[in-house]
Amino acid sequence: MNKDRLILRTRFIDRASHWFMVICFFLVAMSGLSWFFPSLNWLNGVFGTPQLARILHPFFGVVVYVVLMFLFVRFVRYNLPEREDAIWFRNVNKVLAGDHSQPLRIGKYNAGQKILFWGIMGLITLLMGSGVIIWRPWFADYFSIPLIRIALFTHALAGISLILLIIGHAYLAFWVKGSIRGMITGYVSRTWAKSHHDRWYQQISNKSEKK
Ligand code: HEM
Repeated sequence: MNKDRLILRTRFIDRASHWFMVICFFLVAMSGLSWFFPSLNWLNGVFGTPQLARILHPFFGVVVYVVLMFLFVRFVRYNLPEREDAIWFRNVNKVLAGDHSQPLRIGKYNAGQKILFWGIMGLITLLMGSGVIIWRPWFADYFSIPLIRIALFTHALAGISLILLIIGHAYLAFWVKGSIRGMITGYVSRTWAKSHHDRWYQQISNKSEKK
């Protein structure tokens, strides 16, 4: 792979954090789903035994939360709303049709990715907060039964919403060819950057010209 023709999109520390968190997320999500319906009960084997799943689910949940907060700090500046996001929204049908003929002034992440970013961060915070309230035997005793009931409902709703959001995120990552390679190797091609994130490409090109 000739790195001169490639652009660094995601640093090692962010890639390692992302994929480590993805593994933990799948373990937490599967064990969580196993308690929804009796037919999904077999999923609690992900941690070895159902008893281990019950003990480890909240601890791994905390790991997911902490790593996501680290990624929040690393990525938030690229996910703030900008005036140019409106162009992406107005042309979303072209984006979905894979038509990159017109420059859409897209920064490091597009408006859809930004919504996903805030959705993930909001839902994981709800999951963490409600999870602490229902966490037996450590914290639940400090809270009233009505509050625990509300927290249980919030936890289930936020959990399902986050799983659905992540299914969408993973689908889009496979759909946009080259983006998973970017998250694995760290690098994307210039053509990829120009067609999917034209304004970001321009910014990087301007920076390297000044050097
Ligand atoms: C198989 C599952 C997954 C795949 C294939 C995947 C793939 C990717 C890829 C390719 C990117 C980089 C996108 C780009 O460079 O434009 C990314 C970014 C990201 N992913 Fe994932 N991911 C998965 C699961 C998850 C999970 C479970 C979470 C969190 C619960 C997550 C959170 C994020 C975040 C926060 C970003 C940064 C996006 C931004 O800043 O707007 N991912 N993912």
